[in-house]
Amino acid sequence: MGRLTVTILLITIPLFSADVNIYERNCVKCHEKLPVSLDKFFFNYLLKYSSERQVKQALRKYLKHPKRKSSLATEEIILRYGLMPKSTLSDAELREAIEIYWEKYKVFGKIE
Ligand code: HEC
Repeated sequence: MGRLTVTILLITIPLFSADVNIYERNCVKCHEKLPVSLDKFFFNYLLKYSSERQVKQALRKYLKHPKRKSSLATEEIILRYGLMPKSTLSDAELREAIEIYWEKYKVFGKIE
């Protein structure tokens, strides 16, 4: 019985860790500590920028150069947590993370 459990664990652990993508590893990991969820921020971006292209572009810009002026977060959040630190991800990683973020929360295609 012990052997079977070990075998199952050995098979499933890599499967689960493969699921921890760049978005989960980077964005979610840090955002977990914040009171404002990533989905709330996403909808703010969607409301303001509306199209897929513009939302992604605005996100890319903000993540690379977070600025008070372009931030959509409230005054309280910024005072309490400061601006989001400039992303340490490479351009390619950032694109991938934003792609996952977009796929996760986009509402297009989900509303019938
Ligand atoms: C080291 C911590 C940290 C990491 C890593 C991080 N964030 Fe943030 N993020 C913050 C904090 C703090 C704020 C709130 C302050 C602000 O808005 O700048 C924030 C704000 C945001 C906002 C709102 C921006 C705005 O207009 O104010 C979005 C969208 C966002 N994060 C998405 C992401 C995505 C996507 C990733 C991964 C590529 C990511 N974050 C990685 C800490 C982080």
